[in-house]
Amino acid sequence: MTGSHGANPLRDAADRRLPRIAGPSGLVIFGVTGDLSRKKLMPAVYDLANRGLLPPGFSLIGFARREWADEDFADEVYQAVKQHARTPFREEVWQQLSQGMRFVQGNFDDNEAFETLKKTMEELDQAQGTGGNFAFYLSVPPKFFPVVVQQLKKHGLADQKDGSWRRAVIEKPFGHDLTSAKELNSIVHEVFAPDQVFRIDHYLGKETVQNILALRFANTLFEPIWNRSYVDHVQITMAEDIGIGGRAGYYDGIGAARDVIQNHLLQLLALTAMEEPASFDADALAAEKTKVLGAVKLPKDLGKSTVRAQYAAGWQGGAKAVGYLEEEGIDPQSKTDTYAAIKLEIDNRRWAGVPFYLRTGKRLGRRVTEIAVIFQRAPHSPFDHTATEELGQNALVIRVQPDEGVTMRFGSKVPGTSMEVRDVSMDFAYGESFTESSPEAYERLILDVLLGDANLFPRTEEVELSWKILDPIEQFWDRHGKPAQYEAGTWGPVEADEMLARDGRSWRRP
Ligand code: BG6
Repeated sequence: MTGSHGANPLRDAADRRLPRIAGPSGLVIFGVTGDLSRKKLMPAVYDLANRGLLPPGFSLIGFARREWADEDFADEVYQAVKQHARTPFREEVWQQLSQGMRFVQGNFDDNEAFETLKKTMEELDQAQGTGGNFAFYLSVPPKFFPVVVQQLKKHGLADQKDGSWRRAVIEKPFGHDLTSAKELNSIVHEVFAPDQVFRIDHYLGKETVQNILALRFANTLFEPIWNRSYVDHVQITMAEDIGIGGRAGYYDGIGAARDVIQNHLLQLLALTAMEEPASFDADALAAEKTKVLGAVKLPKDLGKSTVRAQYAAGWQGGAKAVGYLEEEGIDPQSKTDTYAAIKLEIDNRRWAGVPFYLRTGKRLGRRVTEIAVIFQRAPHSPFDHTATEELGQNALVIRVQPDEGVTMRFGSKVPGTSMEVRDVSMDFAYGESFTESSPEAYERLILDVLLGDANLFPRTEEVELSWKILDPIEQFWDRHGKPAQYEAGTWGPVEADEMLARDGRSWRRP
C-alpha cells in the first residue's frame, strides 16, 4: 500500500502479506485524560506493541492539565490497557512500552508547557531513538484545535527537520457545518501541509468497511449488477442501543446527523457507490470518493425525504431507559436529533433513480451497522402468484458490526410437491472463515499514521462535500418544528416508516 505522498516503488514491490511495522517514532496525545484516549487510543498503542508492529523505542507522550508525574501517566495507561486492550496482557511488552512514556502538564495556551514538550521530545529522541518522528493526536474538543495547532507552529514542533516527519491527527467533528469546517481546515493547513494531516473517521479503520472494496473490486460476481439496471435501492443503517451516556456536553446541539451521518455513513455510501479506483492508493481512492460525494443530490422535498427524532422513555434490554430530554445535562427544550433518516440520490449514470436511504439512531432495537443493497424483482415470474407470496427482493447485506460478514438473500424452492418459493440466505461470517481476529479500527489507523499511509483517512474535499450534503437538511430542520419521537428500544419513529412507505418500500429489521 502506498501513501498519498508519492508512490514508493520499493514498498510497492514488497510482499504485502508481510506485517507493516512502523519505523522509529512517537505519539503525542493532546486530551489524554479523555474517554477516547482511555478506551481506544492507549489500548490500541499497546495492542500494536503486543503484535510487534511498533519500533522498540516507541514513545508515548501525554499532554493535559492534570497534575501528573510520568509514573501517574504510565499507571493511567496501564489501567486503560488492562481494561480495554484487545490482546492479552504481556508483562515484557508492557515493560518495554512504558520506558518511552512521558507526561507533560499544562494548558493549551501555556508556552512553557509547549517548551517542555519540545524538550521531552528531544530527550526521547536521544533516549529512545525516535528519529524526531512524531505524530500529534488532537483528541480535544474542536474549540481547542486552533490554539493547539498554533502552539505547535509557534514552538517549531510542526517542522520536519533533517528527514524527520511530523504529522497531525485530527478527531471529528471537523466543524459543525461547511463554513466552520472550511475555517478549521484553513487553520490546520496554515501549519501542516496536506500530506501531514490525518483526519480520523474510525469507520474506515474497520475490517468490514475495508472489505467493501475487496468485495466489489476483487470479484467478478457483484460489480456487473451493482448499478441502476439491477439495484432497486440501498439502505445504510447504523443503529445503536446505547443512549448518550455521559456525553451530553458533546452531543446536545450536535445530534445524530452531524455526529455520524456527516462522516461514517457518508463514507460508507461513498465506498458502496464509487467507481473502481485506478489503484488502491490514497490519491486514487480519494479521487473516486470525492467524485461520488460530489454527485450526491438531495431530493426536492426535504419534509418528505428526511426524518429526525428523539428517543422517549422506554424499555431496553430489560431495563427502563429515560427519554433524551430527561438525560442528565440535556436542555429540556432541546431539539437535538438522536435519530435521523435521509434519502439521497446519486446523480450519475450508474445510480440515476436509485435511492440511498441512510438512517442512524441511539436507543434503537439493537446495535447493528449494515449496508443492504436491495435488488429489483425478477422482470417476470413463471410461478403462480400464491407460490411466491413469501419471496422478497434479492439482497446483498454487508454486516459491518457486530456479527461481521456478508449475507446474500435469494429465493429457493420450498421442499415438497408444489413449486413454492421462499427467501433463504447464504452467509459468510468472519469468525468461521478466518482464524485471525479483526484488529480494532484505532490499531489500524494509528499504525497507518506512523507509516504515513493515508488511504483510510478522508481528505479535506470529502469532509467539505459531506457538509455540503448535510447543511441544507440541518437548515431545513432548524426552520421546521420539532423532532418526532420514538420509544427507546424500538426501531425509530413511525415517520421514518412512512417515509419509505411513500416510496413503496420498507426498512429492514436487522
Ligand atoms: C462515534 C460517535 O463517532 O461513533 C458516537 O461520536 C458513536 O456517538 C460511535 O457511538 C459508534 O462507534 P462504533 O465503532 O461503536 O460503531
